[in-house]
Amino acid sequence: MRSRRSLIWVLALSAIATAVGIVVVLWIDWFPAQASTAATDIDTLYDVLLIVSVPIFVLVMAVALYSVWAFRVKPGDQRDGAPIHGNTRLEIIWVTIPFIIVAVLAGYGWIVLDDIEAKKADELVVEVTGQQFAWSFAYPDLEELETNQLVLPVDRPVHFKVNTKDVLHDFWVPDFRLKTDAVPGLTTTIRVTPNRVGSYPVVCAELCGIGHSTMRQTVRVVPAEEFDAWVERQRASKVDGGVDDAGGDPIAAGRQLFNDTGCNACHTLADAGATGAAGPALDDLAAQAERLGRAEGLTAAEFVETSIVDPDATVAEGYQPGIMPTDYGDRLSPAQLQTLVDYLLEVSGGGSSQ
Ligand code: CUA
Repeated sequence: MRSRRSLIWVLALSAIATAVGIVVVLWIDWFPAQASTAATDIDTLYDVLLIVSVPIFVLVMAVALYSVWAFRVKPGDQRDGAPIHGNTRLEIIWVTIPFIIVAVLAGYGWIVLDDIEAKKADELVVEVTGQQFAWSFAYPDLEELETNQLVLPVDRPVHFKVNTKDVLHDFWVPDFRLKTDAVPGLTTTIRVTPNRVGSYPVVCAELCGIGHSTMRQTVRVVPAEEFDAWVERQRASKVDGGVDDAGGDPIAAGRQLFNDTGCNACHTLADAGATGAAGPALDDLAAQAERLGRAEGLTAAEFVETSIVDPDATVAEGYQPGIMPTDYGDRLSPAQLQTLVDYLLEVSGGGSSQ
């Protein structure tokens, strides 16, 4: 009699805990902005998983807590427990029900994934390349445009082809609900249709070395006309050096180049708001370049340029060779390189004043 009453209590408390649990997990705002067409489907899938998980969690905890309380040993009782060998009916139930739940959820997940991965009409192909510690992007359909910025037109399906030049990275845009590994020797692909104008973080989600946590960039989703204009500007800047891209102001152009090229991921520079720590801080660069350059018979500007295109030529004290990518000489046009060198010397207290 007493055990029946306590069982009813346990069931009642479990029902309340389940109801409260479901309200709480649905009330918590788990996800960032929904910036792609996949986001609503994925978020709904997560909500369903959470709703299904709550009663299972409550059931397991209720059985465990009830058993600890109801079957606890009496003081002074030294006997062994009852020799139970199994209960076939119970075992069939607790294998069958979870199997059905998992199979249904797997089928649901497969349908959502299949929908996201389906080939779309008029896809924009974007090649993503991971490298310690920055992402670079290429648009093969737009005359092989290569850039360090990811800009996408809104409402146009994108087909990402992801690669790496060195170790494992992981291309992650949380607001798109998009994530895929960049694997050496493989091209992984993933599709997304951004449907919300704005700027969203691009994150590396695979521990890839000392600068992993700084391997963050931004994706800008813009209206189609703005995207076309950006493509035009990118093409022009490859020719004239990028100063025009920032309204002709060399400092603004240099700052934009510094951040777009990903220098900010690894270096600290107050003027650019950069706080990276994988490489040496650059706020005192002008004086350092003057001093170190003189020892090698170089001007400060020559020393800075050499340090960008051949970073292992002179490695700053306390840092290791082989960390900074060695292909900036190819990635930057000569004019861009000049803009960047002038900028770095100017904002780190250079020129004739110091
Ligand atoms: Cu690249 Cu972590």
